This record gives sequence, C-alpha cells and structure tokens, in this order.
Amino acid sequence: MTDIREIVNEIETLRPIPPVAAKILELAEDINSSLAEIADLIIHDPSLTANVLRICNSANFGFSRKVESVHDATTLLGLNRIVKLVLLDSLSHNLSGDQQSYGLGEGELWRHAVLSAHVVKIMGANNGVPHNKHLVFTAALIKDIGKVILGRFVAFSFEKIHILVKSHGYSFNEAEKEVIGMNHEELGALIAERWRFSEKLIYIIRNHHLSDESARDDTETALVYLADLVCMMMGMSTGVDGLAYRFYSDVLNRMSLTEKDLQTVIAATGESWEKLESLLNLV
Ligand SMILES: [Fe+2]
Repeated sequence: MTDIREIVNEIETLRPIPPVAAKILELAEDINSSLAEIADLIIHDPSLTANVLRICNSANFGFSRKVESVHDATTLLGLNRIVKLVLLDSLSHNLSGDQQSYGLGEGELWRHAVLSAHVVKIMGANNGVPHNKHLVFTAALIKDIGKVILGRFVAFSFEKIHILVKSHGYSFNEAEKEVIGMNHEELGALIAERWRFSEKLIYIIRNHHLSDESARDDTETALVYLADLVCMMMGMSTGVDGLAYRFYSDVLNRMSLTEKDLQTVIAATGESWEKLESLLNLV
C-alpha cells in the first residue's frame, strides 16, 4: 500500500484556488450576501477582473456594447453567472491536464467537471427540492479534484485496481481505497480542507459517490451524485471509473425523481452543450 503521507504531500503541487475566489464562494453560499459585495471583491483582484472582462466581451455572450467594468459585468450577467465565471476561471488550471490512468485525455476531466456542474444546475432547477445552487454547482465542478493527484498513484497500481474491478465486483473508488489506501473522494476532501472550503462543500466532495449510505439522505450530495451519473449515462468524459459505477436507485425515490426525469435532464443538457463548449474554450 502507498504511503498516504506521500500522496498528501502532493497537494502542494496544485495551484491553490485564489483567496479571492474562495471568499466569493463563501459569500455566494450565504443567501444574505449581495452582488455589490462580490463585485467589490473582484475589482480588488486585477487578473480576475481582466478575465471576467475578457470572457464577458467574447462573442459567446453577444452583448451589443463593450463591457468595460466589473460593475457593468455584474449588472449584465447577474450574481449566478458571475460566480460561475469566477469558479471556472479559478479551477480550470488544475483540472485541464490529462489523467491517463483514469482513461482521460487532455481536457477531459475539465470537460466532465463543467458538464457535471451544468447538469446539477439543470437538475436542481427541474426538481422542487430546496438546495443551495452555488454550493452544488461548485461541488459538482470540483468533486474529482482528488484524481489530479491520485492519478499518479493509480498509474503505479492500475493492474491491481483493474483486477478488483473486473473480477471482484469493486467500484473504481472502492478499488482505489483497497489498493492505494485512499480514494479520490477522500483526497479531494483533504484538498478542499487545505483550501479552507466550507464544511458542507468538503462533505459533498468526500461523499459524492455515496459510498457512505447516510450521505444518500443529503439532498445536495445526492444531486451532485446524480449529476455525475447523468454524465456517465451521456458517455461524457467519465473515463475508466465510469465503467465500474454504483447506481443507487433508491436515491431517485428519495429525490422524488424517476429515470424519465433523468432522460429529460439529458435532453436539456444536450441542447445547451454547444453553448457550454464555447465557454469551456474561453476559460
Ligand atoms: Fe468521482
């Protein structure tokens, strides 16, 4: 088994999420915070300001006039889209590389992350269950961050993991835990702790495959799990672990959803995918 300390030390090789993005995330999770507070944080970060303006002025948004200030951007886009842009900008660097040991080529983990976040947004809007939409968007986007580091260790142990998955009925993350001593959910939660994310966000990352049955009662964790599942059903960049996936049908009942509802989400996601892809290329 791999020395866990060796894995944890590798967290330092990630580019930390900028403090301003973490703060924006925190504000976005608080229903009492305002758009003005978030804009105020952005304007104090020159590179974030530049990126927000660059993206807003791209053809993708199609505004009839140039967006010249963060104030303009926040007014035109609104809180939801500004928060999403900030998150996408802050996380793309860490997630855009290839993860060969997970069967993911260059940019595929990033595409999967963005698609998951997009799906959770659609699913949340279609479902009447109350939830914090910024929280689930972020959680869906970042849930597999542990793979960025664990992938290097999975590569060394791939044969053993493969045998457990193929011949012993393990899911991929169960096999990671058995062979390496840690799975990408646990490592992702550790990274989120280092980056001082909220307790709830850490919880969702740690449980996004619902390996712990008690997490199935948590609406926001269940939404992130279902978004991941929908991506797998769409065949979108899930890599080798998508081939050994646990489907908990009771989660659908708990969320008052049916498989037909998932099909509806898949159709809605397919329709908006083209626009989403252009956003992926911008960040
Ligand atoms: Fe995962």
